[in-house]
Amino acid sequence: MMNLNTLFFSLLLLFLFFHIANGFNITKLLSQYSDFSSFNSYLTQTQLAGDINSRQTITILVVDNNGMSSLSSKPANVLKKIMSIHVVLDYYDLPKLKKLSKKSSILTTLFQSSGQASGQQGFLNVTNMNNGDIMFGSAIHGSNLGANLVKSVVSQPYNVSVLQISTVLIPTGIENSTATSPSKAPAHSPKSAPPSKAPAPGGPAKAPSEAPTADTPGSPPKPAADGPAADAPTDKSDGIVGVALGLSISIAMIIVSTLCFVSMA
Ligand SMILES: *[C@@H]1O[C@H](CO)[C@@H](O)[C@H](O)[C@H]1NC(C)=O
Ligand SMILES: *[C@@H]1O[C@H](CO)[C@@H](O)[C@H](O)[C@H]1NC(C)=O
Ligand SMILES: *[C@@H]1O[C@H](CO)[C@@H](O)[C@H](O)[C@H]1NC(C)=O
Ligand SMILES: *[C@@H]1O[C@H](CO)[C@@H](O)[C@H](O)[C@H]1NC(C)=O
Repeated sequence: MMNLNTLFFSLLLLFLFFHIANGFNITKLLSQYSDFSSFNSYLTQTQLAGDINSRQTITILVVDNNGMSSLSSKPANVLKKIMSIHVVLDYYDLPKLKKLSKKSSILTTLFQSSGQASGQQGFLNVTNMNNGDIMFGSAIHGSNLGANLVKSVVSQPYNVSVLQISTVLIPTGIENSTATSPSKAPAHSPKSAPPSKAPAPGGPAKAPSEAPTADTPGSPPKPAADGPAADAPTDKSDGIVGVALGLSISIAMIIVSTLCFVSMA
């Protein structure tokens, strides 16, 4: 009987693990839209897809293949930074964007959580214009809101939203920030490799840290809480541990009560 229980328990855990771990697959989701195939392949190439899939509450700002062509000559580490600017760590769909408090909000991006962002580089500003347009830009002071919302592509409240914007967002200074990127080996940059890449003169020479807002010098902008979803990156493995714990307790209780029943009969 115990063996059967153990087997059952293992199978159940296995099932739950795969069920929870496959919340969504951004690569698969975007593969249905050929307009965004460049964006999708960059997500895979920069290994951001895995990071995105490990989160439960996320918004991806996608740009169509024409708009992405300007990124084709960027070195791998820069490409990764730019792509991670387009991943917002909260759920924003059309209804939520139309109801922004004060018609404007600051969004935290995946780039901010990389620890490589300096100042406001890791944040975006989304603003409801008077003419009804919804505009996106870097939150760095003096940046213009250069991209407008084209349409909503996917919305699965409150987990994943995919919004199309008109153009890629490249915050000032992101291309030559000095943070050491943990990318591997000499990436396949075709021919445009400058002999020596000296770090920017006045750039921030901080080690990448895990804390999202650790190296923001001034007061970091507070991402407005405009909806039910929190923007803390939740780790699904926590959920698995919780489920496993709960399950073990229930299984133990079942075993104990079965044993009691058997001994009473
Ligand atoms: C969606 O998000 C909620 C919390 O925001 C979480 O409990 C749930 O597991 C998520 N669903 C998927 C499929 O990831
Ligand atoms: C996501 O989907 C793609 C394409 O369908 C597949 O190649 C990849 O293995 C999937 N990733 C995960 C983690 O399931
Ligand atoms: C976003 O940018 C606009 C235009 O620069 C500015 O008026 C607005 O205050 C900014 N929003 C926030 C929340 O900082
Ligand atoms: C850094 O980028 C800015 C513009 O984004 C440029 O003006 C500056 O020359 C660059 N610095 C270096 C060291 O490449």
